[in-house]
Amino acid sequence: MLSRRAFLAGSSALTIAGTHIEVRAQGGGGVRRSVRSMGANDADLAAYSRAVAAMKALPASDPRNWNRFAAIHASFCPHGNWYFLPWHRAYLVSLERICRDLSGKADFALPYWDWSLDRQIPAAFAAGTPQTNPLNNRRPGSLAITDDMTGPGAMSRIMNSPDFEAFGSTRPRGQTDTNARWQRRVGAKTELEFNPHDGVHQAVGGDMGQVATSARDPIFYLHHANIDRLWSAWNVRGNENSAEAMWRNFAFNRNFPQWDVAVSDLQSPSQLGYQYDNERGPFAADVNIDAVVEETARARSMVSHLQAYRRFDTDTLPRAMRGAQRIALAGGGAWHIACAENGETASRERPVNIPVSFGRPIGDVIKADALASARLYTEGSAERQCVWAVLRDIEPPKDPRTRVRVFINRDGLSPTTRMDDPHYVTSLSFFGAEHMNHAMPSSPHDHHGMAAPTMAASTPVMGGAASIDLTAALARLSGSRHFRNDKLVVQLQPTCPGGDTAGSAMRARRVEVAVI
Ligand code: C2O
Repeated sequence: MLSRRAFLAGSSALTIAGTHIEVRAQGGGGVRRSVRSMGANDADLAAYSRAVAAMKALPASDPRNWNRFAAIHASFCPHGNWYFLPWHRAYLVSLERICRDLSGKADFALPYWDWSLDRQIPAAFAAGTPQTNPLNNRRPGSLAITDDMTGPGAMSRIMNSPDFEAFGSTRPRGQTDTNARWQRRVGAKTELEFNPHDGVHQAVGGDMGQVATSARDPIFYLHHANIDRLWSAWNVRGNENSAEAMWRNFAFNRNFPQWDVAVSDLQSPSQLGYQYDNERGPFAADVNIDAVVEETARARSMVSHLQAYRRFDTDTLPRAMRGAQRIALAGGGAWHIACAENGETASRERPVNIPVSFGRPIGDVIKADALASARLYTEGSAERQCVWAVLRDIEPPKDPRTRVRVFINRDGLSPTTRMDDPHYVTSLSFFGAEHMNHAMPSSPHDHHGMAAPTMAASTPVMGGAASIDLTAALARLSGSRHFRNDKLVVQLQPTCPGGDTAGSAMRARRVEVAVI
């Protein structure tokens, strides 16, 4: 077990049979490469296939058994909060170590699946059948990875996230300390998680469509390697991870085989001894990495406003507000928040309009010239603003393939309104809704059984939440009549690829709009 001193010293170690081993050795110096660049006989791909076959053949009593390793995910994975990225990073490192042992390839590194470029299951994972190919898995139907899920617009919004909680999902609502019970409590998903992460899970479907089974599909780990790469790429652009002690000092104890690790030990690939072949893109046409790194300082004051917003407990606001509330900062400056309750259900036939009243023209609070520019947070006037809508207490659609399109202030919204409409914001998928707020297993080793464990919900179930960046859409509308409106109207338009209108029905009980 990792000692307290090792945590404090910021060094990393793991224990195998009582011997401390540097985590550098655990990384093995591997370079994670894109699966698209790999030929059918690629050495890492072949090693992965051998290792997966070996893990599947191990008895259930062995912690390296495939389904048993997958059950770790079912039992411990945080979704919808700021532990999502570091936990899954550790999980991949843990798998890589097993694969090195079982494949005999000492520098094995996981491939990643860049679904921005390749919208099909990589050929090596689709060949043959689950019986003949260890990398195959039961997966229904054809993939529906769409541009709104992994294309340049989504990648641009993700890579332009102004702080860690905008990039990697927000802290659990009401979190006060680093007790392990917060690991799976609900914060809010942000674009990386609710769009490409959740979307690709649902598009692949089958085992991948459920938290309890997703890690049984060998493609799971390549999907997460790409998520992990995007995190590293966001850092490479000069963006810093959260400095909050509640995040950094949080420990994942007895989650992974023989490895206890804290978030502070999971800050970068280099800290763990691996790297990516490409962390620079191309992610989106309008992202120029070097320019952004240079100018990040211009966004600093907005980041300090964001920090105040992150710590603000929105449960202290009245349930019904007539207008936006001004929240003054101790060090000068202020930000605003407005919210609305919603009882209406959205479905494909009936999009829902949720008017959030500011009590005065929204242009009095949202400054058009602080938003305008493609490079939202780094160019333009000295004054920067960003605007977030948080959908809370979401009752997700029954049909998991449902995507919900988000628009603002669009008259006559319908299922045929195009996503290149200036009022379009983004689209959401819903992965893991069935797992929301599940408690951790009562004994840390419950997950060592074959079956996905049943977990008691020891806390009242809160619905999921999504924190959506409205900045780019508002920048497109700036100067228009919409800025003279006293309401910002958040609109939800479900779509249902399965054609099942009833299955697309969903609800968000509360919407908060924060102008930072
Ligand atoms: Cu913990 Cu992609 O899932």
